[in-house]
Parts: sequence; structure tokens; C-alpha cells
Amino acid sequence: MSAETAWKHKDLVGIQPLTRAEIELIHDTARAFKEVLARPIKKTPSLRGKTVANLFVEPSTRTRLSFELAAQRLSADVVSMVGTDSSSFKKGETLKDTALNLQALNIDFIVLRHSAAGAAQFLAERLHAHVVNAGDGSHEHPTQALLDTYTMREKLGGGGLAKLDGLRVVICGDILYSRVARSNIWALTKLGARVTLVGPATLVPETFRELGAEISHDFDSVLPDAQVLMLQRPQLERQGKTLFPSLGEYTSLFGLTKERFKRCRPDVILMNPGPITRGVEMDSELADGPNSVILAQVTNGLAVRMAVLYLLNGGRGPEGIQP
Ligand code: CP
Repeated sequence: MSAETAWKHKDLVGIQPLTRAEIELIHDTARAFKEVLARPIKKTPSLRGKTVANLFVEPSTRTRLSFELAAQRLSADVVSMVGTDSSSFKKGETLKDTALNLQALNIDFIVLRHSAAGAAQFLAERLHAHVVNAGDGSHEHPTQALLDTYTMREKLGGGGLAKLDGLRVVICGDILYSRVARSNIWALTKLGARVTLVGPATLVPETFRELGAEISHDFDSVLPDAQVLMLQRPQLERQGKTLFPSLGEYTSLFGLTKERFKRCRPDVILMNPGPITRGVEMDSELADGPNSVILAQVTNGLAVRMAVLYLLNGGRGPEGIQP
């Protein structure tokens, strides 16, 4: 690893501050961890003696479990706080005080999911501990974009990791409220891909062009050129108001139905960060079909999160991984 590509960040709060070389370093490191995960004993001592606290103030299945498992596979100790009902959040303790108390327990990493955009950055500026953003409101979900782009590179790489320059990626759905979409737009454009955002005008505002993406409100017209289709569910829990007439109407215009799928390239890659709302943003059989890499995304999330924790801890890229 050259000095130019060495990891320099204390925290991972978003994709926006990363360079292309840093994203590729995470991917190269994740690839090495996938080899570790294929061994009979799926562990390395890289984080032995360190402690990772998962602080998930919002619900999660994939991200929380894979961060827990990633820390365990790296031989760290792991503690988790989930939701607000069983912690002192319920008694009015603030996020800052909660995090300072974790740090007082000599926690080395805090992995935070929170409903407020900027929550991870807020903690990163106040703690000595490393902070990893596991999703902050509608802002960023950096490890999701890292695992999504890793999955594309792996799928297209023929045994290696392909470059994504010129790749045509369509992200369809609730872009306005999607931290996954924002982080993916940053990651994909840094990696040279061409991103088109699709959805109703209420969920895909023109301002997203400023991030380097194209915009369309006609799903059918963009399907024939798409090499990757990323389907995003309508995030009704965040919208708080009606932004389209009904789920049925949404699906008729922006759902990947079997009929609409006929317009796609035969080798189109279908992605969904999960949770899937089957029959809304995509047909259930397509989600389980041969073009889908949805479960590969989940598998790769573990290796990518191992790579992130390892690099934040001072790991020196793939060549520094202890057997
Ligand atoms: N993709 C994702 O963040 O899923 P979870 O909310 O289940 O973690």
C-alpha cells in the first residue's frame, strides 16, 4: 500500500469525504476478508483487545447483525444497544451523554444508526473513539454503498474486481428519503459510473442533478440501457405525508414488474438494499431470480464491514491481514 492510498480517517461518517482510491482500498481489503470468511475458521486476530459498541437507535436487521458479526470475526469484543426502550434513552439521556458513557467504558468503536442526519458526524467530532455511520436519517449509509459497489465490481469482474467506469446504473424509487441512494450516488460517480435516478417527481427532485446524476420520471424508457437496476422501496416511515396516490399506482409506474423486466438487457443486475417490499418496488419472483444479487449484497456486507473496522483500526490494507 503506497502512502497515497493509505487509510487516513479516524471515522467513516459518509462516502462524500472519501476518494476513489480509498473506496478501492476498502474493496481490495474486503476481497481479502472474503477469503478469510471462506476458511473453516472464519476469524482473524486483527481487532483482538478492542471493543465495538453497536448503538442502533433505529431498527435494522442486515446492518446491525453484519457489524456484530464483522467485529466478532475480527476477534473484537462486542456490545450492542438496540432501540430506545431498554436503555437510558428512555429516561431522556442524550445521544452525546450516551456516547461519552460508552467511551468512559473504553469502547474503541461506536457503530451508530440514528434517525437524525448528521448524528454520526456529531459524535465523531466529540469522541476519541472511532465512529462508523450505519445510517443517519436520510443522509448517508456509507457501508451500504460500499457493499453495493463491491457487489457490482465482483459480479462484473470475472474472478476479480471490475472497474465501474462508464457502467450505466439506474436507481429507481424513493430517492428523496433514501440515505442508500445518496451514498450510492457519491460512490458510483467517484468510481466513474453513470447514474440515472428514476421515480415520481415528488421523490426524485431536480436538485439531485447537482450530485452528478441524471434524472428521469419514465422508468420504461431507461430500462433497455441499464446494466444495473437498484430498486429502492418507498420509505413510508420517513415520508410523513402522501407523496404518491397509492402503492398500487406507484408499482404501476415505477415497480419492476415481470412485464417491465422484458425491456431489460438479459444480463441486467438486479439489486435491492433490503428490506424488500415484494410486489411493490419489484416483483417477488424477480427478487429471487437469476438476475438478482440481493443476497450476495448481504454476504458482501460482512466482508466490507470487516474491512472498514480493520482499516479504521490502522490496518494496512489486504497485505496486513493476519492469518
Ligand atoms: N439495508 C439495510 O440497511 O438494512 P437494515 O435496515 O435491515 O439494516
